[in-house]
Amino acid sequence: MTERVLLEAKGLEIRFGGVVAAQDINIQIHEGHNLAIIGPNGAGKTTFLNICTGYLKPHKGKVFFDGKDVTRLQPRHLVRRGVARAFQIPQLFTEHSVLENLLIAGAAQSRRWSPFRPLHQIPERKAMLHLLDMVKCSHIADRPVSELPEGQRKLVDIAIALALKPKLLFMDEPTSGVASSEKFEVLDIIAEALTEAKVTSVFVEHDMGIVDRFADEVAVWNRGEVLFRGPPDDVLNHPDVIRDVIGEEV
Ligand SMILES: Nc1ncnc2c1ncn2[C@@H]1O[C@H](COP(=O)(O)OP(=O)(O)O)[C@@H](O)[C@H]1O
Ligand SMILES: [Mg+2]
Repeated sequence: MTERVLLEAKGLEIRFGGVVAAQDINIQIHEGHNLAIIGPNGAGKTTFLNICTGYLKPHKGKVFFDGKDVTRLQPRHLVRRGVARAFQIPQLFTEHSVLENLLIAGAAQSRRWSPFRPLHQIPERKAMLHLLDMVKCSHIADRPVSELPEGQRKLVDIAIALALKPKLLFMDEPTSGVASSEKFEVLDIIAEALTEAKVTSVFVEHDMGIVDRFADEVAVWNRGEVLFRGPPDDVLNHPDVIRDVIGEEV
């Protein structure tokens, strides 16, 4: 496993009124890893994802991707450089079918989308079918998204993110809203797809079972700061983390 730094945050700071949502955040994300971010509600986890994906501009500090300063780039420009994002609530066109959602994303990515071209004739169709296969959703390609359970929506959302051909994927609570009995299965499929696509991932997660199983590194957020960072065994067994974070989740 290489230790190349894919993304680096340096001295990030952002305030919302009196709330400090990021306070001197310094972190490196290494290629090929799956980094879990844990921490209590309001710790600034989503804020960090928003800054790294271009949805928020920090008041201080910088974000470097592939060694280049990307702090001021808009989300769509970051996507073109290889930074994608999956949302806590998937942003899908629910009245369209699963495959149509993929085709729209694929066409938008290649900038070939045109209202005059039938969706199903776009050249990306084969690649999109392969992505659906990677997230084990080929059998529901023609179902409208509105009919799907949350777990499958998450998988379709991941396939759409992969259609953007990212190097780095941020996922905000990928198992939120998914039935407990299905969480592991959904994350197993996501993890396998990310490995196949050679995508580095950063995911926010509240379920420590999921963190333990899928992360090879864990970072603990609290009050806009990174408290700890290390291998899951060390971080999840640290008394301060058990007291301040895991205790709250249980
Ligand atoms: N756009 C915003 N405007 C005002 N306050 C915000 C905004 N985004 C986040 N916050 C505040 O910043 C803090 C961190 O929020 P967030 O990053 O969503 O935390 P987490 O994802 O760890 O639960 C919270 O106190 C939240 O209310
Ligand atoms: Mg959040």
